[in-house]
Amino acid sequence: MTYQGVLRRYGNLLDLPAHTKAVTLLEGDTPLIPMPRLGRELDCELYVKFEGLNPTGSFKDRGMTAAISEAIGRGAETVICASTGNTAASAAAYAARAGLRAIVLIPEGKVAVGKLAGAIAYGAEVIQLQGSFDDALSLVVEITQKTPIALVNSINPFRIEGQKTAAFEICDVLSSAPDWLCLPVGNAGNITSYWAGFRQYQKGLPRILGVQAEGAAPLVLGHPVEKPETVATAIRIGKPARGEQALEAAQESKGKIIAVSDAEILSAQRILAGEGVWVEPASAAGIAGLIAETNQGSSAAKGKKVVAICTGHGLKDPSIVTESFASPRVIPSRYEALIEVIQ
Ligand code: F0G
Repeated sequence: MTYQGVLRRYGNLLDLPAHTKAVTLLEGDTPLIPMPRLGRELDCELYVKFEGLNPTGSFKDRGMTAAISEAIGRGAETVICASTGNTAASAAAYAARAGLRAIVLIPEGKVAVGKLAGAIAYGAEVIQLQGSFDDALSLVVEITQKTPIALVNSINPFRIEGQKTAAFEICDVLSSAPDWLCLPVGNAGNITSYWAGFRQYQKGLPRILGVQAEGAAPLVLGHPVEKPETVATAIRIGKPARGEQALEAAQESKGKIIAVSDAEILSAQRILAGEGVWVEPASAAGIAGLIAETNQGSSAAKGKKVVAICTGHGLKDPSIVTESFASPRVIPSRYEALIEVIQ
C-alpha cells in the first residue's frame, strides 16, 4: 500500500478519540541517515533522523496531523498556537488542509524567516507579540480556556500522541531502539513524546540526551529563565510546558539534560552540513550535545548506536548562514575570469 501518513501507519497505537478525522500531508517516514564520518570521529554508530524532511520542514507535522484531525472531528472551527515558528507553520498548513481558521502568536522579531513565510503562505493569521514565546503560550492557554478556539500547542495531548510515531519509526528501521537518543529540548513536548513512544513500543529503551541552549536552559538551571536568549530561536524558551516530563524522561532513561553554547550549536550545524545534512540551528543542538559530552571525556556513547534527532530543515533559517559569510564573489562572464578565481 502506498504511504498514507503517520495516523494510518501507526493509528492503532495512538490514543486518539473516535471522532478523529484524518487530515494528512503524508508526514513522517523520514530517513534515518547514517553519518559515518562524524560517527568515526565520535567513536559511535551515528544516525541522524532528518525530521526537516516533513511536509512543512519540521517534526511538528507528526503531532499536528493528530491535533488537527481531532479538532476538526469534534467540530472546532478555529485553532490557535504560540510558536517560535515551526509549530506556527505546521498548524497553518494542516489547518489550511482541513479548512480551519488558524491564528498563530509569535514573539516579535524572533522567528526565522522560513517559518514566518510558511505561516503566512499557508494562510494563517499571524500575530506578533511584544513578548516571549512563554508569554505567547500563556495567552493562548487563557484564550482557549475562555473560548471554543482549539489549542494545538504540545500541551494538547494529541500532539504528543502523533509525535510518538518518530520513536516507532526508529525502532522499525533499526529493529530495536538505539542506545542513545540525542535531541534539542525547548518546550519539551518532543522529548516527552519520544520517551512515551519508546516505552510503548517495547523494542528497548534508549538513554536520552536532551540538549538546551545555554541562554535558554531552565531544565539545566533548575528554574525558569525570564529572558531566554539564543541563536537557536526555535528553542528560545524559558518556561517549558512539559519540563517535569522532560526531566523524568532523562532520569528514567539514565540519560541527562545538558546545555551547550550558541557557538557549539553553530559549529554542529556546520559539521552536519559538511556531511550533507543542513539543519536549522536548534536542530543541531542534539549533535552539539553529543560532541560536547565526548570532548569532555565521556565514553558513554563509545561504540554505541546513537540517533540524533534533527528537528527542522536548514532552509527554515537561511539568514543565519548567509549573514555569517561574505557575499559570494562576482566575476565577468568569461572563461579566463572563472579559471583565475578557482585556481
Ligand atoms: N527543534 C525545533 C526545530 C523546534 O522548532 C522546536 C520547538 C524544538 C526543537 C524543541 O521541541 O518544544 O518539543 O522541546 N519549537 C516550538 C515551535 C516551540 O513553536 O515551533 P520541543
